[in-house]
Amino acid sequence: MRTTVAIIGAGPAGLFLSHLLHLHGVDSVVLERRDRDYCERRQRAGVVEHGVAEALRESGLGRRMDREGFRHDGIELRFDGRGHRIDFPDLTGRHVMIWAQTEIVKDLIARRLADGGQILFEAEATAVEGVESERPRVRFASPEGDEDVLECDYVVACDGFHGIGRTSLPEEVVSTYDKVYPFAWLGILADVPPSCDELIYARHERGFALHSMRSETVSRLYLQVPAETDTAAWSDDRIWSELAARFELADGAWKLGTGPITDKSITPMRSFVTEPMRHGRLFLAGDAAHIVPPTGAKGLNLAMRDVMLLAEGLRRRYAEGDTAGLDAYSDTALRRVWRAEHFSYWMTSLMHTDPAATPFDNRMQRSYLEHIAACRPAAAQLAENYTGLPEV
Ligand code: FAD
Ligand code: DHB
Repeated sequence: MRTTVAIIGAGPAGLFLSHLLHLHGVDSVVLERRDRDYCERRQRAGVVEHGVAEALRESGLGRRMDREGFRHDGIELRFDGRGHRIDFPDLTGRHVMIWAQTEIVKDLIARRLADGGQILFEAEATAVEGVESERPRVRFASPEGDEDVLECDYVVACDGFHGIGRTSLPEEVVSTYDKVYPFAWLGILADVPPSCDELIYARHERGFALHSMRSETVSRLYLQVPAETDTAAWSDDRIWSELAARFELADGAWKLGTGPITDKSITPMRSFVTEPMRHGRLFLAGDAAHIVPPTGAKGLNLAMRDVMLLAEGLRRRYAEGDTAGLDAYSDTALRRVWRAEHFSYWMTSLMHTDPAATPFDNRMQRSYLEHIAACRPAAAQLAENYTGLPEV
């Protein structure tokens, strides 16, 4: 098989890249090791930055998001039994969309297939070869189990943290930066209308909690739990009572609605960056290159931004014969990546209770939260990063 751009992974990064390349008249083939149903059901992120929502609209994928998603103009920070609202348009002129990653993936797959795009499901890439030559190749196992080869001009690895793309870069050219946190998130989906109009990020002595949503009738909630937690240790009753305790307001003026839990999963928390994000004709994008802890909702957005940059670089390469965009990709992407790494690390450190924290550390967190509540520039800094910095 031969194509112009071989894309490994049909997550949001790989699919959006394939879609953008199609709009620019550049051919691609997407290899995905899972089946379509699995890709469309995997529960993950829910917040889309202002600029990424715009990019979805501009590429013809905004209609369902604008009809069924929610525009959110703020979030609530809840701590010491009080709530404080961060007003995004007032502080930044921007907003975010609540629109699930699963829905973005569903729309992208449907659109690629309607446009005649090639997504090979149940086709696992096993090796990337010849990236220092002009004819790189991806070896993959076809759905029938045979070994096949995809030849191309460029390979883009959008194959997530556990893919083969990152490990295909020669060790001597790569640096990695890593931080593992001593806690995880237990995430649930529940058939109950959200108990809030905007997301609530709660800091509590018992640990962090987040109230998000998927629709008028489905809530998405997260609890900080110790690393290595098994969902079996968390009965539905235990989850609801722990959430209620962490969200409680001192005046008792708020009540958490409960309902049947339809999905439970654990997300480990880590920060991770690979530098550079390119070697020869192999590019890394999304979780293949970097991981952020989910506080601040940057993972999906970073993945989408990476491929927006790459698609423009590839467009220039084929429309104008100019490789400047591709040559600048790694440095340009990494500037945004490190900003998001810092923001996610900072939000995580501010809102979670570290088992090793001292009473002094706890006071530091509370003091900073009070500062955000009292001081407009401090709140603006949070809002700028959360809604997505246009200039980075
Ligand atoms: P992925 O979505 O991981 O897609 C990679 C794709 O590559 C997968 O479909 C995989 O099957 C495929 N693949 C892997 N190896 C191969 C191979 N060898 N051959 C072929 N295909 C391969 N972010 C937030 O902002 N908020 C959240 O609440 C949140 N929750 C998360 C929960 C979990 C469990 C995880 C893992 C991530 C979460 N994230 C969250 C992060 C966010 O979902 C990711 O940043 C986003 O999915 C990145 O998209 P991607 O396309 O780069 O990678
Ligand atoms: C969601 C996930 C996040 O990590 C976050 O910060 C906000 C919302 C969500 O899944 O809805």
